[in-house]
Amino acid sequence: MAPSNQKQWIIAAKDKDLDGLQLVDAEVPKVGENEVLVKMCAASLNYRDLAIPKGMYPFPFKTPVVAASDGSGEVVEVGSKVTQWKQGDKVLTLFNQGHQFGDITPATAATGLGGAEDGTLRQYATFNECGLVRAPKNLSHAEGATLTCAGLTAWNALYGLKPLKPGQYVLTQGTGGVSIFALQFAKAAGATVIATTSSAEKGEILKKLGADHVINYKEDANWGKTAKALTTNGQGVDHILEVGGTKTMENSLAAVKMEGIISIIGFLSGAKPEATLLDTLSNICTARGLFVGSKAQMEEMVAAIEANDIHPVVDKQQFSFEQTREAYDYMWAQKHFGKIAINI
Ligand SMILES: NC(=O)c1ccc[n+]([C@@H]2O[C@H](COP(=O)([O-])OP(=O)(O)OC[C@H]3O[C@@H](n4cnc5c(N)ncnc54)[C@H](OP(=O)(O)O)[C@@H]3O)[C@@H](O)[C@H]2O)c1
Repeated sequence: MAPSNQKQWIIAAKDKDLDGLQLVDAEVPKVGENEVLVKMCAASLNYRDLAIPKGMYPFPFKTPVVAASDGSGEVVEVGSKVTQWKQGDKVLTLFNQGHQFGDITPATAATGLGGAEDGTLRQYATFNECGLVRAPKNLSHAEGATLTCAGLTAWNALYGLKPLKPGQYVLTQGTGGVSIFALQFAKAAGATVIATTSSAEKGEILKKLGADHVINYKEDANWGKTAKALTTNGQGVDHILEVGGTKTMENSLAAVKMEGIISIIGFLSGAKPEATLLDTLSNICTARGLFVGSKAQMEEMVAAIEANDIHPVVDKQQFSFEQTREAYDYMWAQKHFGKIAINI
């Protein structure tokens, strides 16, 4: 039986920076007929979770809102019409609760946890039964919680438009959550991975994770050309996960193969690239913006994670529920490698 009261972390206002993140008391929500009550066991942070209280998030969100999108937990109660879940099931949250399969729409893009809808940094949460995905059997709650946003985004980049094939080339940028998932998924698929990073030390970790080539983007200003030269006959890279934006787009265009795909995911170095859409013509490539992924894609990703025993890279520093503010500060200071987990 769930208690009647709980603690939850909310973003109370848009203009208080990280002080907008507050721990408050709340009632444990009642289960509707199509809903599931989940005891949350772990959450994980994304750049977006910091951008929201800092007033840097460009998409609509409500306040107050229960923080964070990523979560792993256990079903404790199901509504009378629920068919997909039973008590004791281990589940993960779906980022955009309404995005079940196929193309995302304006309506389903407005169902993001921790933004438009209440998120995962609470002890108990109700979700529509369609807003959950079975957790991989081989992962702990802290590992599983990292899949909701960064994991699914990397999966969608590699499989959402033109599925990755064995023997193809994948280029990842930096050592953030999305890029490391892309490296792990691409190696499991038999691809060759070219990874960039700003640090020699992180380059060694990338190699241990399976990267075939590592390029330091601080030392090699023309890393796109270098990456292209590493591919068979210098033809270029099949899949590029573009997380840099302003400072990386031109190099991504220099690296891409004809008919290759550049997945436009983030803008860590700014949002105004000098490259234009016409560059897709001069390079004969596809540039595709994407927004996390669907439930159907997340189920495919979970199956691949189990089959290949992939373990998400979780930063060695883990945080308790009470230390959530410290976890936000740690991420803002960019002290992390891979994903940050909060144990609830
Ligand atoms: N569209 C979507 O659906 C979606 C979903 C998830 C995330 N995103 C976005 O994707 C981006 C990455 O997210 P994340 O969670 O992976 O971020 P993260 O974990 O915060 O990534 C941080 C890492 O990015 C690398 N980096 C920073 N500036 C770079 C640059 N100029 N060139 C190359 N690498 C750079 C650094 O790697 P090194 O230290 O190794 O250099 C840094 O450690 C963010 O902008 C996020 O908002 C979008």
